[in-house]
Amino acid sequence: MKVTVVGAGAVGASCAEYIAMKNFASDVVLLDIKEGYAEGKAMDLMQTASLNGFDTRITGTTGDYSQTAGSDIAVITSGIPRKPGMTREELIGINAGIVKDVSSNLIKHSPNVILIVVSNPMDTMTYLVHKSSDLPKNRIIGMGGALDSARFKYRLAEALEAPISDVDGMVIGGHSDTGMLPLTRLATRNSVPVSKFLSDERLEEVKEATKVGGATLTKLLGTSAWYAPGAAVSALVQAIACDQKKMFPCSTLLEGEYGLSDICIGAPVIIGRNGIEKVVEIELDEAEKQKLAESAEGVRKTNDLLEV
Ligand code: 2OP
Repeated sequence: MKVTVVGAGAVGASCAEYIAMKNFASDVVLLDIKEGYAEGKAMDLMQTASLNGFDTRITGTTGDYSQTAGSDIAVITSGIPRKPGMTREELIGINAGIVKDVSSNLIKHSPNVILIVVSNPMDTMTYLVHKSSDLPKNRIIGMGGALDSARFKYRLAEALEAPISDVDGMVIGGHSDTGMLPLTRLATRNSVPVSKFLSDERLEEVKEATKVGGATLTKLLGTSAWYAPGAAVSALVQAIACDQKKMFPCSTLLEGEYGLSDICIGAPVIIGRNGIEKVVEIELDEAEKQKLAESAEGVRKTNDLLEV
């Protein structure tokens, strides 16, 4: 199993590290345009192998896509991250050109690749890959919802004063501060609805903290977060590599599901060896349907800025 990670910045390097630590991939190739950077990160990570007990071979390259040939999975993290006060949508101008170029190079060298898009604005970048490539929809996955759900579970556990392993929940909709839809109605602590333990007001706070999860970290760190994004990607990569058939909310091309078409937005999907193997349609209540429709409107506005 060969995995390429484009972009050896903090998110890309965290992805590579978590993938290697789980020891299911034979090769991870890190690619970056900054001279020597990916090679350096790869070497540093490889020097942790004997300490951390993994056999995955991590190599780095400065922009040589021939090194990525035959990749089963490729992760696109390249582009600029947001700075404090910026929205993900503001990155579109620069990142669209980068993502288009990176995806076409990846596909050229690995025609059977499954792409995972991380670059922001993530739903629009995922849509861009659909529009600018011939890849079937199951092989284009936008990462956002897997990350947002992890942040949701963190906030729920905090409010419940419970261990995270007790908590389950999911965030669908767009990967933006206003577009995320944390499904508090369906969240549980060991199958008991969280509304049994938390007031509506507290649940609203959890929802809001989840939605601005990325922005809160950007403010604290001065740049976009990397550990949780890296871990979310590595969970998706593992689900594909190990054919786990796990359910994650991911940005996927909808064709009528949830009443939406010609848009990539977060919805629950089953991830296995073929990438997105199924879109799962869950019953939403009227308020949730309304919120998802508004979220889709926001994503479409950003999509309209694309020149494809
Ligand atoms: C986030 O931290 C990377 O969009 C990303 O939310």
